[in-house]
Amino acid sequence: MPADAAAKGMKLERYASGGAMLLLLRRASGGKIVSASSHLLFRATVLATLGLVFLFTFHYPSLLSRSFSLSGGGGDGGPAHASHRSLLMSSSSSYSASAAYGGAAWEKEVRKSAKPRKDGGIAVLVTGAAGFVGTHCSLALRARGDGVLGLDNFNSYYDPELKRARQRLLADRGVLVLDADINDGLLLEKLFDLVPFTHVLHLAAQAGVRYAMEAPQTYVASNVAGLVSVFEVAAKHADPQPAIVWASSSSVYGLNTDAPFSEDHRTDRPASLYAATKKAGEAIAHTYNHIYGLSITGLRFFTVYGPWGRPDMAYFFFTKSIVSGEPITLFRAADGADARRDFTYIDDVVKGCLGALDTSGKSTGSKSGKKSGPAPLRVYNLGNTSPVPVTRMVAILEKLLGKKANKRIVTMPSNGDVPFTHANVTHAAHDFGYRPTTSLDAGLRHFVTWFVDYYKLKLDIPKLTKPAGADKPSSSSSSSKKKKATAMAASS
Ligand SMILES: NC(=O)c1ccc[n+]([C@@H]2O[C@H](COP(=O)([O-])OP(=O)(O)OC[C@H]3O[C@@H](n4cnc5c(N)ncnc54)[C@H](O)[C@@H]3O)[C@@H](O)[C@H]2O)c1
Ligand SMILES: *[C@@H]1O[C@H](CO)[C@@H](O)[C@H](O)[C@H]1NC(C)=O
Repeated sequence: MPADAAAKGMKLERYASGGAMLLLLRRASGGKIVSASSHLLFRATVLATLGLVFLFTFHYPSLLSRSFSLSGGGGDGGPAHASHRSLLMSSSSSYSASAAYGGAAWEKEVRKSAKPRKDGGIAVLVTGAAGFVGTHCSLALRARGDGVLGLDNFNSYYDPELKRARQRLLADRGVLVLDADINDGLLLEKLFDLVPFTHVLHLAAQAGVRYAMEAPQTYVASNVAGLVSVFEVAAKHADPQPAIVWASSSSVYGLNTDAPFSEDHRTDRPASLYAATKKAGEAIAHTYNHIYGLSITGLRFFTVYGPWGRPDMAYFFFTKSIVSGEPITLFRAADGADARRDFTYIDDVVKGCLGALDTSGKSTGSKSGKKSGPAPLRVYNLGNTSPVPVTRMVAILEKLLGKKANKRIVTMPSNGDVPFTHANVTHAAHDFGYRPTTSLDAGLRHFVTWFVDYYKLKLDIPKLTKPAGADKPSSSSSSSKKKKATAMAASS
């Protein structure tokens, strides 16, 4: 299987860099000065270390991948300086990573995955392809005959096994997802040497609002440095330059209350470092469009949910907790305002991403002196346009799971969440026909069905028998509870 081959390649690279270190050690201290006995001792130590490295890699591959992935985000709350240091080291470590890739077989796999299967198909590099949105977009592109090459660093911000399962799903459909970090500029150059990608769908990022307080540097590494790395190769190395579509976030609207959120509303009050890095990304996009004529489209996603979703998001871990009988925590807004989220179903978001790719327009190389005019710089909301109280989301889950949640309600700490989100999608509707069609009831039903199947639970889902047409939430159903408590646990 190609995906497994790629995984092995990365492991080999780890061995190789370990070996190189030992070799250096040997060169530095091996010599005539060293007495015979200490020479023996040294060899024994080297052997023992190699053995340990081997055993360790065998038994704890996830630990190793976590330490590797620190260069690009992830890692569970490791000390901030560690990720900062590896961010600085990323240029040196990237060389060995790139060196491990290659060989005729590997290049063939890459080309095959990226090759469109239909006339006029596009060739897309999808970053964050083992992520939630990346997996769905890759599948959709593949299904319609486009070429897709995926890339992901499989960091352990949430269960890497879920990312591996998505990678296997993609491998079954002929999409290769490389184990690689977007900060590995040399690898990116190599990929663009191999494949004339027409598009980049850049979804790799450190997501999550609250985790930014624990691991701020991973946000800078992936969402700022990583974004620059992708723009750099597209601007200066790729020939022809691809068009880029990338994920910003509704979180850039920060503390805005003027609903629905439109693209021209102010975005200068981010409520979290996550939001700030996405806002920074939008400014950086402007620069690369302005100087290098890159066609860039930013998509502001609004709380995306669905099958194969993210375990760090409220709808996901609430489901887990309700199933296992654990209490869930809902946050009450300090001012008592009703907390709502514009929950957007994954299939709707995928349609938006493909629509943005298909209308993206060409990169021009530079803004001035081209008859074709400047390259497009666009930004769009992709939301559902109907915010729902988080308490109602919980009520729907309770119905689907046939089990009451054990709710604990506390006052919301100031941790990056915002009171509500609500998208105005007029521009996306106008420019590429974006029209969300999935209600929260219908979408959560799909999610819970997947959840039960994926975790092999023995659970009846009573509401699955509901007619498929019952998509629009009826205001009377099930939200019986008075909404004196507002919940704000959804993340963006
Ligand atoms: N899901 C949402 O509700 C939502 C809302 C707003 C914005 N977004 C944005 O959409 C994009 C996709 O989100 P998602 O929900 O699929 O998240 P996700 O975490 O499931 O996917 C992101 C993927 O990128 C990978 N990654 C992270 N840093 C990397 C790096 N340095 N190099 C290579 N790979 C790296 C991760 O391993 C992960 O698989 C992200 O940019 C996110 O910020 C998501
Ligand atoms: C949505 O955005 C469009 C375009 O910016 C604007 O014309 C329209 O008034 C907005 N709708 C609402 C309800 O604010």
